[in-house]
Amino acid sequence: TDIPALRDVLADDFPIGAAISNRQIIGDQATLLRRHFSTVTPGNALKWDATQPAEGTFRWADADAQVDFATANGLAVRGHTLVWHQQTPAWVFTDTDGTPLTSDPADKALLLDRLETHIRTVVGRYGDAIGVWDVANEVIDENQADGLRRSRWYEITGLDYLRTAFRVAREVAPTAKLYLNDYNTNVPAKRDKLRNLVSQLRAEGVPVDGVGHQMHVNIQWPSVAETEAMLQAFVPLGVEQQVTEMDISIYTNNDESFPTPPADRLLTQAYKYRDLFALYRRYADELTSVTLWGLADDDTWLDTFPVARKDAPLLFDTELQAKPAYWGIVDPTRIN
Ligand code: G3I
Repeated sequence: TDIPALRDVLADDFPIGAAISNRQIIGDQATLLRRHFSTVTPGNALKWDATQPAEGTFRWADADAQVDFATANGLAVRGHTLVWHQQTPAWVFTDTDGTPLTSDPADKALLLDRLETHIRTVVGRYGDAIGVWDVANEVIDENQADGLRRSRWYEITGLDYLRTAFRVAREVAPTAKLYLNDYNTNVPAKRDKLRNLVSQLRAEGVPVDGVGHQMHVNIQWPSVAETEAMLQAFVPLGVEQQVTEMDISIYTNNDESFPTPPADRLLTQAYKYRDLFALYRRYADELTSVTLWGLADDDTWLDTFPVARKDAPLLFDTELQAKPAYWGIVDPTRIN
């Protein structure tokens, strides 16, 4: 079919991306991906548990395949992610004799050393092929007075893990854009704590170039006004911003479950995509890319989160056909 390519429709605004796994780089998925998108994010392949499952043992097959596909097809790559409290193997926070690391100086030095080695190796391997890194993911907890998530990283090193991670990433990839990425950044308490951290780190000279807004949202929440306040909050800092993991769930609570997506939900979703993308396009000077957390509804993390049920959060359906949501972005007069 010759529906417009998303990447062409948005060419004057920002690159448009999709999260991928090995499933999206072959067959019909690969065709759809190449046609509509200009950037990709490996959804799992660059995480610590995938790249360094045991100390000094690196596994590159999946990440190499996905990055090579992107490079061969002229797609940019967002690197996700170097430091996170999830999908990090237990060995990282454990002594060689099996004892959990503590905040004592020797343990802290060991952890920061492991972090430095990991980042040098992973970032160094891909060089210019990866132009943006989510250096750290989900470090904010708005329920803490200081806003800092009590992860193992934080408990053992304080903020030094962030200082080390950004400094080393900058050294290894001097031209890459370095991001702090988080979810629910539209929630004012969380947004403001993230802004304070970014501003503190930058004042110290830590090379944080950008803020990533995941944007895992649903058909009711958040509003356009709340989302605009999210973008606006970071403008005074002079940082880049990206939407990094967008999807719009058709569910608004955990009791709902539909075997197939109801038509009225898909229409509501289309209007939500229309309205949020209209906002993003107004902020095209701030937003340097917008990425969806998946290519099509045949493969989405929301099928298992927060409970097992079929969701339909993306622009293409399980048969890879354009949904009303696609038209919400491309031509809202054709939503039906
Ligand atoms: O690879 C194994 C496979 O060998 C095994 O048979 C299977 C059985 O459970 O699991 C497979 O691993 C799963 C992996 O996705 C690949 O499909 C993991 O269990 C599962 O936990 C993992 O989920 C990923 C999740 O991060 C982990 O927290 C999702 O795919 C991924 O989309 C999701 O992405 C996160 C972002 O990184 C950060 N922001 C939120 C976002 C959504 O949770």
